[in-house]
Formats: sequence, structure tokens, C-alpha cells
Amino acid sequence: MRHEFGIEAQAHFQEAWPNAYSIFSWLEYAISIPYPTYLITTLKENGKPNACWHSWGCFSGTGQGYYALLVLNEGGHTYANILRTREWCINLPTLDQKAQCEETIARNDMENDEIADAGFTAEPARIIHSPRIAECLVAMECRLEWHWPLFEGGSQHVFAGKIVHVALDERVCDADPQLRLEKLRTMYNLIGTLDPLSGETQPGSLGIVRLV
Ligand SMILES: Cc1cc2nc3c(=O)[nH]c(=O)nc-3n(C[C@H](O)[C@H](O)[C@H](O)COP(=O)(O)O)c2cc1C
Repeated sequence: MRHEFGIEAQAHFQEAWPNAYSIFSWLEYAISIPYPTYLITTLKENGKPNACWHSWGCFSGTGQGYYALLVLNEGGHTYANILRTREWCINLPTLDQKAQCEETIARNDMENDEIADAGFTAEPARIIHSPRIAECLVAMECRLEWHWPLFEGGSQHVFAGKIVHVALDERVCDADPQLRLEKLRTMYNLIGTLDPLSGETQPGSLGIVRLV
């Protein structure tokens, strides 16, 4: 059987932390869609490299162009940097680089070189000015096409960028999908889980995909 739910949070829903269902939607925890994670690199106003671990995004396009869609919280460095520079790079880290990804959040001041301080190496991009992360197997250079608030009065903003250049490490050029997944080891973000019947919540985690 299927249970039907309206969109209002219910009183018996546990929150993992205070205001969790104000800052995020309870639906994200109840539905639990895993999102691939990547590092968005941009340049801060003072010229220092910025890295943001990100997961609210998707990729789509046709022969006329391939696009990255990102949702960013207003108030972060990446949000301000993209509005100012109109460009960014998307770098795909592997599960083995999880600790470095966490460091980009721990060392997030204006004065931080967030690529070097996380233990990565910055390399110049080919088309844009934002740096790429040399250790990531995939880098997608993006130019802003349009941006819009997710909804009026909200704190999240949608950015659409055209992918204007791609760098692929030779290890992920294999046509065998199994081999490619084994090399990519892309981290998927499961933000957390909520059982909307009992109201119980459990913390999220990261996962990787495999072919079935
Ligand atoms: C696994 C994971 C996924 C995240 N996904 C997003 C996201 O999709 N959008 C967002 O705005 N912040 C996301 N964050 C939070 C940002 O990484 C964090 O706020 C970061 O410090 C912002 O960096 P910035 O101020 O340099 O932009 C995520 C954090 C983690 C741990």
C-alpha cells in the first residue's frame, strides 16, 4: 500500500537538529533522493581560490549545449563569486577524497586558499578564470547563462551554466561503465532519513553507486 502525504510537516516528526525542517524541507528527508556531490571552484573577490562541496545539482542538454544546474544557499562565498564572475568549475572528487572535501567546509574564511588548505592542488582552467582541482578526475568549466531565486522570499538560488570545456583524466575515459564507476567513486549525498509514519529520523551519509 502507498501512504499519501500533504506538504505540511507534522508535529510528531523528529528533527535531527533544531529548525532542520525550516532550513531544509522535511520532504527531502522523507523522500531521500541521493545526489552526486562535487566541488565547485570559483575565485573570491580577493583572488583566493574558493571550493564548495555541493550536491543540489543536475546536468542536462542537447547537441546545442550541455548545462549544469545548481542550487546554492544565498550568503555563501560561491553564491557571491558566481554572481560577480559569472563562471565556475565543477570538479568530481572520489570517495577517497572525502576528508579533503570536508576541509573545504572547515577552512572557509575569506583568507583561505580553499583548494590548497584542503590538501588539493589548483591548476589553471582552459577557458575560464576560476581554478580547477588537479587531483579530481573530471573538471567541467562553466559559464553562467541565467540565475533565479528558487522561490520568492526563499534563501536558495538557482544557477544555470553552460559547460564550455571539460577535462577528463585518462583513468575515466574507459568505455566500460563498470570500470568507469570503479574509478570515479563519486560520492552520493543522502542528507538523512525521516520515517513520516513514526516520525523517527536518522542521520544521512554518503554512498557510491555500482552497476546491477
Ligand atoms: C555533502 C554536502 C553537500 C552539500 N551540498 C550543498 C548544496 O548543494 N548547496 C549548498 O548551497 N551548500 C551545500 N553544502 C554546504 C556547503 O558545502 C557549505 O555551506 C560550504 O561551506 C559553502 O562554501 P562557500 O561559502 O565557500 O560557498 C553541502 C555540504 C555537504 C557536506
